[in-house]
Amino acid sequence: MKPDSPPSSHADFLKILSDLQSYLQMEKEEGVTSLPVSPALVEALRRPSFSPAQARPIPSPSPKVSSPTAESLQSIAQVIAACTRCPLHATRTQTVPGQGNPTPEIVFIGEGPGAEEDRQGLPFVGAAGQLLTKMIAAMGFSRDHVFIANIVKCRPPENRVPTPEEAAACLPFLHQQLALLKPKVIVTLGATALKYLLGLENAAITKIRGTWQDYRGIPVMPTYHPAYLLRNPSSKREAWNDLKAVLARLGRPPPNPH
Ligand code: URA
Repeated sequence: MKPDSPPSSHADFLKILSDLQSYLQMEKEEGVTSLPVSPALVEALRRPSFSPAQARPIPSPSPKVSSPTAESLQSIAQVIAACTRCPLHATRTQTVPGQGNPTPEIVFIGEGPGAEEDRQGLPFVGAAGQLLTKMIAAMGFSRDHVFIANIVKCRPPENRVPTPEEAAACLPFLHQQLALLKPKVIVTLGATALKYLLGLENAAITKIRGTWQDYRGIPVMPTYHPAYLLRNPSSKREAWNDLKAVLARLGRPPPNPH
């Protein structure tokens, strides 16, 4: 499709809306708060043929129906809830087993729950989680399309990095989850996830991010942790490039370049 020609099909139109949504999302992340909009565009967006529901690039997963995989994930979550394999159980409010689609294309893996996650029992729901949710949305997905998990399922006190012993005690749960989830791609968030999932002890995240790795035959894309991106917003562009590489690997159309 030529840049200035009108969309030739409904699919083209949805693609343009999806690209625009991704572009605006990233501009917002970069601190842009307003953009010039022509009266003609405002008029076009008001037309009844446009509705946000039509603009969704990827349909929402069907309403939650129980499946053998979902039930197995639930069983693992129950074992995690009763776990006392490491000292983290003594200080947790509740366990955070992971959340999302039982048949996801992508699994995101973080380090461990923080205070808000410990309170809610859900992964990535604090400040870093809000940024992760935006990153997922910029890719054209919602949290319901993907699965989000952590290396350890209980909050390390003061949000410290999990010890090797804590990670070793908890990792069998993640391996079991990944064996059930069978994602097409895993995205590791930050150095701790990479170190413990892949055993890459001395890998500098700044060097290894953006390079494909392998977990038991599943491609792994290492990228920055969203908490790091909150502290270092200038690295968001690199993280976005990593996520675009994931989309390309999945055969999904790349979001609008910017
Ligand atoms: N940071 C993580 O690594 N995981 C969470 O669930 C929240 C914050």
